[in-house]
Amino acid sequence: MRILFIGGTGNLSYDASLRALAKGHELHHLNRGTRTDRALEGVRSIQADIRDPEAAKGALKGLSFDAVVDFIAYTPEQVALDLELFRGRTAQYVFISSASAYRKPPVHHVITEATPLANPFWSYSRDKIACESLLREEADESGFPVTIVRPSHTYGKGWIPNAWTSSDFTVAERMLAGKEIVVHGDGQSLWTLTHTRDFAAGLVGLLGNPAALGETVQITGREALTWDAIHETIAAALGVKARIVHVPSAFIAMVDPDMGEHFLGDKTYSAIFDCSKLERLVPDFRATVSFAEGLRESVEWFLADPSRRKVNPKIDASIDRVLAAWGRAMAAAKVR
Ligand SMILES: NC(=O)c1ccc[n+]([C@@H]2O[C@H](COP(=O)([O-])OP(=O)(O)OC[C@H]3O[C@@H](n4cnc5c(N)ncnc54)[C@H](OP(=O)(O)O)[C@@H]3O)[C@@H](O)[C@H]2O)c1
Repeated sequence: MRILFIGGTGNLSYDASLRALAKGHELHHLNRGTRTDRALEGVRSIQADIRDPEAAKGALKGLSFDAVVDFIAYTPEQVALDLELFRGRTAQYVFISSASAYRKPPVHHVITEATPLANPFWSYSRDKIACESLLREEADESGFPVTIVRPSHTYGKGWIPNAWTSSDFTVAERMLAGKEIVVHGDGQSLWTLTHTRDFAAGLVGLLGNPAALGETVQITGREALTWDAIHETIAAALGVKARIVHVPSAFIAMVDPDMGEHFLGDKTYSAIFDCSKLERLVPDFRATVSFAEGLRESVEWFLADPSRRKVNPKIDASIDRVLAAWGRAMAAAKVR
């Protein structure tokens, strides 16, 4: 199959690329070419900025595909450009949505594709919902061959998934320095983490799959861990003990409204996914990478080169602010 990935060198799209190549597909990437460390032999590279419509149109002129996956569409405007670019030029268009779009607070902790969508807390999720609506309208009106994929929290090498910032070393660096970290709530809600290799197996299995046309499919791992267990696993991989301080999500949101969106709009609630639809559509799909294994690989990757250990100073300061405010609140609440 002739496949185009918009992206291709990112967190999800890199392992998806390895999978597509391993399956013998002709794979094209459209990106700006900034991740030279992730250039892959066999990939045909189209260099363009997808946010520059004229450049994208020029770069794709005359090309058509069996499947296009846009990994980096976040708004209806961006999806509208994809429609312009790919109407009549692809046999399948895959939109990467997000499981954060499912209704918050949840109706039930086990989530299927039929779970209603609505997220009053997080604008990112509302935008993804609007993208899905636009694509469904287009599919109904013109028969545009859409497949909507909803990943949940998905990490690969170079990510240390946690509640604050998964794509850098901020929380891990705090752990190594013996500093306290904040885990929301009482740390006991259940959270599903998916490795990008498992996501890739599900996604590539949907490409060129006629049963996936017009369908929405969630792709996640099977392992659901408490947030405390997630942070303890990270600490164990680093060879330290986690110093966890539990703080309610609503309190975090008061101290840092931006982070509040992430907690109240997503990570506060238990999330367990029923992936039987994916298993029906892609019978050989099995999530195989345990969190302990995937995380160990990531930690080794970070520790192998000090320049990879990037800390987000804004998030680091936010954690300090939450800890300080929570300390004051607890001291004030103490019965003397
Ligand atoms: N990870 C999760 O937990 C999770 C959960 C739910 C949903 N998702 C969804 O998964 C998707 C993210 O996929 P990903 O992790 O592979 O993305 P990513 O890591 O953000 O990927 C970035 C890729 O896009 C390219 N790119 C960035 N800006 C570009 C531009 N202006 N023009 C052309 N190419 C550009 C980058 O290459 P260059 O820099 O070279 O251009 C790179 O190949 C998003 O839609 C997100 O909403 C993720």
